[in-house]
Amino acid sequence: MRNVEKRVELVEKYLQRLQLDKDMLSYYNGRIILVTGGAGAIGSNLIIALSKLVGERGRVIVLDNLSSIRIKDPWNVAPLPNILFVLGDVRSDIDLKRVFKEKPSIIFHLAAFFANQNSVDYPEVSADVDIIGHIRLLEYARLGGVERFVYASSGCAIYGSYPQLPLKEEFISMHLTTPYQINKMTGEMYCNFYYHNYSLPIVNCRFFNSYGPGEVPGQYRNVIPNFIYWAIEKRSLPITGTGDETRDFTFVLDLVQGLLKAGYYKEAVGENFNLAAGKEVSIKELATMVNEVTKNPSQIVFTERRKWDTKPRLLASIEKASRLIHYTPLIEFREGFQYTIEWFHDNWDKIKLLADFPPGMSSAVRTPVHSR
Ligand SMILES: NC(=O)c1ccc[n+]([C@@H]2O[C@H](COP(=O)([O-])OP(=O)(O)OC[C@H]3O[C@@H](n4cnc5c(N)ncnc54)[C@H](O)[C@@H]3O)[C@@H](O)[C@H]2O)c1
Repeated sequence: MRNVEKRVELVEKYLQRLQLDKDMLSYYNGRIILVTGGAGAIGSNLIIALSKLVGERGRVIVLDNLSSIRIKDPWNVAPLPNILFVLGDVRSDIDLKRVFKEKPSIIFHLAAFFANQNSVDYPEVSADVDIIGHIRLLEYARLGGVERFVYASSGCAIYGSYPQLPLKEEFISMHLTTPYQINKMTGEMYCNFYYHNYSLPIVNCRFFNSYGPGEVPGQYRNVIPNFIYWAIEKRSLPITGTGDETRDFTFVLDLVQGLLKAGYYKEAVGENFNLAAGKEVSIKELATMVNEVTKNPSQIVFTERRKWDTKPRLLASIEKASRLIHYTPLIEFREGFQYTIEWFHDNWDKIKLLADFPPGMSSAVRTPVHSR
């Protein structure tokens, strides 16, 4: 329980730092809110923040099929009294009827078949969840008269491989490299369709490389949790590429901030936003820092670049989100990284049990090219 309390405390401290205005607090108070994928890396943080905002009169309903972890135990969902966990699938009419019976007025749609390599390995399931499940949810949302539908899109899905930096919302590329990216872009287009055709108040939020408490490492997960996991295990950190590649790593609670604001500001409706830190960190820098902090004596090894991984740099412009929804990232990389490491140490037994690196899978096992 202590670990849960710590996570809740971190979110509370963040909300205090954020100082949301009174109108926004009263907007959320007492609401019934549906979060799909609420047991996941980002959703499990969002639901804590929402639980605080909706208060005793409100309720946060989590719909998640727990497919991203290996056990049917919603351990990542904080057991707060106003959070209702429903084990279910966004593709299932029965499960959707169950959660819509509660009449949610805001939906945060975060459930997804995560992410690039997973979708390369399983393109059909990926489309089934990310497109068919998404359309089904949009249908229920419009029929249920939902006041706001916030969609978790992805920066890597919209901008292709070689756009001008920083990435601005108006640039899009039709040259995407994985089914996941195609599905996420399609997801935005369906949101736009429901907005134009049915006036469903949608918002497309384009996340960039989330990290923070709540993300369990695994073959299909992001580089930060995987590096931390291997470093704690005193294993070498494999860099798929030269290490000079950069990413715009965004602390998960800054993404939560963006979601809360996207769910509130009228100016967000019908729009798309980058939610990012707006800063670049190279993979080599990251690996070096992880090894330093964890005192990992093992070397960095360079392995083959994944064929679909064609983005040498990722850096988002957050000017639009800042202008329209007053989005301001609060957590510097070093600070966010420290929270992430602490969460790993606090939850190590669970993480070790759930970290998913099966032998022989395409993305998990690679031959090192050289080490240094
Ligand atoms: N993490 C990132 O860096 C990042 C970047 C860009 C976009 N996103 C998007 O943000 C959202 C959340 O990402 P995350 O990192 O928390 O991912 P995650 O995999 O940790 O969370 C997604 C959750 O959805 C659940 N889920 C999967 N299929 C489902 C289904 N059919 N029905 C119900 N639940 C289902 C999973 O069990 C999981 O708990 C996703 O839509 C993702 O595409 C994430």
